[in-house]
Amino acid sequence: MSEEPWTTVTPRKSRSKRTHAKPATATIAPPTALSTPSPRPPSPTTTQQLLVTVATHRTHFARSAYGAALAAVLSRERARRPGTVFARAVCVGLGSVARDEPALRRRSLWQLAAFLEVAVGMLGVCCSGGDVVVQDPAFGAVDCALFEALGVRVVRVPRARECVSRECFLFAPFLEGAVLLESVLPGTDPALYIGCEDLAEMKYQPFPESNVERMREVAREFMANRTEVKITEEFEVDKHIFAGLSMYWRSLEDDESKETIDDSANDSS
Ligand SMILES: C[S@@+](CC[C@H](N)C(=O)[O-])C[C@H]1O[C@@H](n2cnc3c(N)ncnc32)[C@H](O)[C@@H]1O
Repeated sequence: MSEEPWTTVTPRKSRSKRTHAKPATATIAPPTALSTPSPRPPSPTTTQQLLVTVATHRTHFARSAYGAALAAVLSRERARRPGTVFARAVCVGLGSVARDEPALRRRSLWQLAAFLEVAVGMLGVCCSGGDVVVQDPAFGAVDCALFEALGVRVVRVPRARECVSRECFLFAPFLEGAVLLESVLPGTDPALYIGCEDLAEMKYQPFPESNVERMREVAREFMANRTEVKITEEFEVDKHIFAGLSMYWRSLEDDESKETIDDSANDSS
């Protein structure tokens, strides 16, 4: 076993890469457990309390062993891609921070804090210009007030996909695979995606009406130029909040060939 708290996964075919360290199983909240958030507008105190919690969680996440392992991979991979800029961050499927079940609320709050810490704290995406984007049909008034206070832009389904540029960090923490492959990933090529592991293996459950062949094709296309890195360190607060997530980096070769094309375009102009 590797001594590093992560493993790089080498693709079996073409250019992706894949390795396994310790098996991690995604803990996915069943859709039935997702309650409808309250339609009442939240009090300013609620929003203030949530802001404090998110800020505290961000600090805690950054200092955790899991956060440190993730930061180490980010800096290693970014050093290998000096031209890569992260101009935008998109999070799809966070869940509502006002869900009835405290354990589920807790998951969404920690995942939100981690998303902001990675996007803004570690990758330097600017939060005030509409470049930090979230989408989840489960968001209610409490979530929207919190996002407004944080300077995070909320978009309606299916607008998030349009926001996923090449210079993007895309986070989809335990989003249903069918949603991911049918309405988020098609046609996108973000520099970094963090979501459920083993995308290449297509372990996702399709919906009854899903076009499984199309889902496979989207996963295949997406993985064709990706390197998967699994964080094997556990999050001390609750390992289930992030266990089973992988990082998928756009391959170096792809960025290099893109840079070559850009350079020759500049040379000829
Ligand atoms: C399995 S839950 C995961 C929630 C949370 N991330 C967690 O780990 O507990 C999937 C989430 O995806 C959301 N979702 C479903 N379709 C979506 C879509 N098209 N865009 C964004 N989110 C979606 C659901 O509302 C739900 O909150």
